[in-house]
Amino acid sequence: MNTKLKPLVNALLQAGFKMKTLANAIQKGGQGKTFATCHLAFDGAARGLRVVVIDLDPQGNASHTLAHYASGLSSSQLYSGDEDLISSVFGGRDNAGISLIGKDAGLANIEQMETEDAASELRMQIEKLSEYFDLCLIDTPPFISKLMASALYSSDYVMSPVEPETYSIQGVQAMVSVIQNIRVRGNPGLKFIGMFPNRVNYRDQRQLDNLASMRTAFKDLVMPFDCRQRGSFAEAQGDQIPVWQIKKTSARVAAKEVRVMTQFVFEKMEIVQ
Ligand SMILES: Nc1ncnc2c1ncn2[C@@H]1O[C@H](COP(=O)(O)OP(=O)(O)O)[C@@H](O)[C@H]1O
Ligand SMILES: [Mg+2]
Repeated sequence: MNTKLKPLVNALLQAGFKMKTLANAIQKGGQGKTFATCHLAFDGAARGLRVVVIDLDPQGNASHTLAHYASGLSSSQLYSGDEDLISSVFGGRDNAGISLIGKDAGLANIEQMETEDAASELRMQIEKLSEYFDLCLIDTPPFISKLMASALYSSDYVMSPVEPETYSIQGVQAMVSVIQNIRVRGNPGLKFIGMFPNRVNYRDQRQLDNLASMRTAFKDLVMPFDCRQRGSFAEAQGDQIPVWQIKKTSARVAAKEVRVMTQFVFEKMEIVQ
């Protein structure tokens, strides 16, 4: 599938395609933000895109899974106002594949900044990254914060992975309000790709009922597929590889499932058709 899609991506790039930025955000942990971010990065790179991943979560799970792709730049540096930062790291370099801007201890200081300042610093650096990359993916912390707000002010798209549990659904409801707010306050173009039902346990009728209720309540805001709770997904994240590199029969089904998500997201972002 990936090799077949490559020429299409290249054609888009030649047509003056500009870097697109997607944040994975929901103010609750354990939903699949990092899982989605990493698999979008792996799949985007396999399709020939130059992918930069910014880890804004102080927990640094994406920085662990993507440690092999460390660029040397840390995410708190993106708030320093240094206009030459990006060109000094990525200029004159082959930026094919994935480049990670990993979390560092300095992320804790960002909460002391004014939201507007944090947002405009990050926005400026993302604009600079667009000279070197085609796809920018931002992983965010599981709480409403300056870090999360700055990511949403700087993104073209946002998606919210959600496990069909009561608290998670309440979380995603609050997230929809946050996105509305960010649109009104300064990023009117922010597009909500939708809620990504993830970690669905098909043996738990309560979860299936919750998912059905979510679809009824939120309609098109819920992606028309889901990823089940599967050991291979957690294993892949721990092993720092995409699930399609796990050599087990069960991983094959998992790979198919996650690629439905990545294809859907790339179509919504108009990266592939
Ligand atoms: N569909 C899934 N099936 C099984 N485990 C999953 C699935 N999605 C995520 N996980 C695991 O659940 C945990 C939380 O996922 P993660 O992506 O880190 O969530 P978040 O970034 O929203 O906190 C991780 O250990 C991850 O490997
Ligand atoms: Mg995470």
